Amino acid sequence: MQISFLLNGETTTVALADASMTVLDWLRETRGLTGSKEACREGDCGACTVMLTDTHGSRAINACITLMPQLQGRALRTVEGIGSAAAPHPVQTALIDHHGSQCGFCTPGIAVALAAAHLNGEADHDAALAGNLCRCTGYAPIIRAAEAAAGAPVPEWMQADAAAFASTASTKISSGGEGRPENHPGDGFQRRTPGLGAGLGGAESPPVFLPENADALAAWLLAHPSGRLVAGGTDLGLTVTKALQPLGEAAFVHRCADLQTITETGAGFRIGAGVSIADMLTAMAGAHPSFAALLARFASPQIRAMATLGGNIANGSPIADTPPALIALGARLHLRRGAARREMALEDFYLDYRKQDRAPGEFIEAVTIPARAPNLRVYKLSKRFDQDISTLCGAFNVAVEGGRITAARIAFGGMAAVPKRARTLEAALLGRTADAPTFAALAPLLAQDFTPISDMRGSSGYRMQAAQNLCLRYARDLAGEAVSVLEVAP
Ligand SMILES: Cc1cc2nc3c(=O)[nH]c(=O)nc-3n(C[C@H](O)[C@H](O)[C@H](O)COP(=O)(O)OP(=O)(O)OC[C@H]3O[C@@H](n4cnc5c(N)ncnc54)[C@H](O)[C@@H]3O)c2cc1C
Ligand code: FES
Ligand code: FES
Repeated sequence: MQISFLLNGETTTVALADASMTVLDWLRETRGLTGSKEACREGDCGACTVMLTDTHGSRAINACITLMPQLQGRALRTVEGIGSAAAPHPVQTALIDHHGSQCGFCTPGIAVALAAAHLNGEADHDAALAGNLCRCTGYAPIIRAAEAAAGAPVPEWMQADAAAFASTASTKISSGGEGRPENHPGDGFQRRTPGLGAGLGGAESPPVFLPENADALAAWLLAHPSGRLVAGGTDLGLTVTKALQPLGEAAFVHRCADLQTITETGAGFRIGAGVSIADMLTAMAGAHPSFAALLARFASPQIRAMATLGGNIANGSPIADTPPALIALGARLHLRRGAARREMALEDFYLDYRKQDRAPGEFIEAVTIPARAPNLRVYKLSKRFDQDISTLCGAFNVAVEGGRITAARIAFGGMAAVPKRARTLEAALLGRTADAPTFAALAPLLAQDFTPISDMRGSSGYRMQAAQNLCLRYARDLAGEAVSVLEVAP
């Protein structure tokens, strides 16, 4: 297959023998652009940070878990493309001036993350760097450098990707296979990631499909029921880089614009399954601020730029961040198989650990949620504030009339094999006063709803105690007595 994209401003067409090749491997080992570093190879440290531009804007992403077909029709800018010795980017100059680098291993990733934030006018440098680990310099000089660079104008070349995208990209980079492939020694020969045999041995590589819309995706999945759907790849990329599993036949859906729209109707939002967590965060900020505050702690900017809502739901992790909030909101899931569509309450989708009510060839098309839920509060407990998976996550949404609870939806992640409602507690709350004594008295009922496990993130006892404490925290939040740390501006 051939893919076509902009690399540091140049149209680049690559013949790929293996869709499992990561962007980082291609950059470093095939293209010879070794500025982007590899450390964790799982999206955690940011050493591999590059900037991706498409119709959703320019954002920092992790090259180590992004697969080459995900570049199709997009623009990639590496640390080599944000500045040069002759014309450094203002953040590069500032990192030097403010002593923001010691061993230098994290520095290219930090420079790209800061350059992307600088381009977007982001003033919260802590948030911009939540996905970049520096082990030796310490963050103070790096933040001082970011602050110093903030007032500098955006270099012209940094604006070129978005401009090219807006004007000529549709002819320049939209269809794979245009132009002469810019082959480099080793193209298509994947050295590090699995699938090596297919490339080297000359065997047919599994089919890869880049649909332009949901209809085309539906038809392909019907014909390839065991094919993988790759959305952001932030879960699937790790099966390639860590579990060393070849991708197999796959459809990459980042070009399906109709899966990436958020429609607001009077009743609520219809959110396409391909909407990124970053775009979801922006959309939820006004309507559901507590949900937005949770999404701001979802992984890192690099992961949020790629990760999708559909992927978070379909991956089926019991500690995924969005399902508890969505279940508490009463979200409906819209599934599609070929031309057939069905919908269900999100909680009914989860059958057992990593087992969902989804037929082969079926995919999530959209999620619908109500427009208003003023009493929704979502609490994520994790060992670190940023870039960490939940130990548990509690989402509470009660309706109160005349001081009494008339409806309750409470869901937890990390308390069972699936994201799950606290139905015993919900039932007991009905008709009771919405205050701290009620929640304190009824919180122990959670022991009838959940039997949490112990693992490296937390013991069963910790999870049960913390979940019960969250009930009290919710009551105090409802009463306006406590300020949730999730809602304090950083
Ligand atoms: C460093 C790091 C940090 C992370 N932190 C968090 C975190 O804080 N909170 C959290 O919840 N998650 C976290 N994750 C997990 C991951 O980012 C999320 O689960 C993400 O939402 C997955 O979305 P994706 O689009 O990348 O899915 P992909 O990796 O593309 O796909 C995941 C699975 O879902 C399937 N799928 C995707 N879209 C659909 C669809 N429309 N219909 C049917 N099936 C579909 C795929 O086939 C695959 O099986 C983290 C991951 C990494 C690497
Ligand atoms: S190498 Fe650590 S995030 Fe990519
Ligand atoms: S400068 Fe050494 S890890 Fe950041």
